Amino acid sequence: MDKLWQTLQNWRNTLDFQLRKWVRWRRNGLIFENQIKDDLFDFHSGVKKQQAEQTAERLLNQYHLELFSACSTRINFRENLFYLSMLENAFDIAGINLPATLNVADIGPSHWFYVQALYAGLTWYGINTPRQVNLTGYEVDPYRVFSSFYSCWDYARAHLRDLQVTYQKEAFKTVPHHFDLICMFFPFVFVKDHLAWGLPKGQFDPLNLRESVRESLAPKGVVLVVNQGLDEHLAEKENFNKLGMKIIADFEQDDLLYQYDLKRFVLVAKNEE
Ligand SMILES: C[S@@+](CC[C@H](N)C(=O)[O-])C[C@H]1O[C@@H](n2cnc3c(N)ncnc32)[C@H](O)[C@@H]1O
Repeated sequence: MDKLWQTLQNWRNTLDFQLRKWVRWRRNGLIFENQIKDDLFDFHSGVKKQQAEQTAERLLNQYHLELFSACSTRINFRENLFYLSMLENAFDIAGINLPATLNVADIGPSHWFYVQALYAGLTWYGINTPRQVNLTGYEVDPYRVFSSFYSCWDYARAHLRDLQVTYQKEAFKTVPHHFDLICMFFPFVFVKDHLAWGLPKGQFDPLNLRESVRESLAPKGVVLVVNQGLDEHLAEKENFNKLGMKIIADFEQDDLLYQYDLKRFVLVAKNEE
């Protein structure tokens, strides 16, 4: 039954995907309203709430998020803090020293609702003067349309504001030995999730994608992957083991700043020297 369902899903996704590529839906005018950021962590109480507020305050100051804080929705601001905290923990645990000029790819950014935190984290991690960040997002399905009738790319443009980053509207392909860091926030590990998202089966080749990532890392480059749920996390570790990569950080992100149904797991890996 599962097989039949997947076949039907695949037919439909293949058709829709081709249609989206052909239509390239986009609409101007998307702007996010600012919302007051008081009591952002009212899902916690007592000491945990206090800890969340202190962490948010530190991240805001250390990563210069004042402007973003003044023109974002509450939920988007909090999600950004969560991504920033994951990034910081990953760099701390893996003992990463970022170079002065940083080439970064983010594979599958979708509508890039977390790009402000990502860019701020890359710019300011461990230093007081901003580093040069060359950040490129690669999205295979940029014209997916949401119920608001804005596309993924419309949302991404609105989230980017005036950040100097690139959003490539295509699948990631090998760029040999180029990137200091490659991020994959919630890549598909299982075909059922890939199909449920609306992509054709032909686009699903997780090991091949990770092999491209491996080949695209600069000599001291690292890949940072975030997965949801233990099953995905374990399968992801297996992917990197198969490719002979060395895992240098492996942890579960806490729910201090954001609570999700499925736990978030982070891996950082590099090529064996
Ligand atoms: C689950 S979403 C993750 C979105 C986002 N990174 C996040 O943190 O919520 C996975 C995204 O990867 C994109 N994708 C899948 N395969 C890809 C590939 N080979 N190259 C670029 N993007 C890809 C999908 O279209 C989708 O937008």
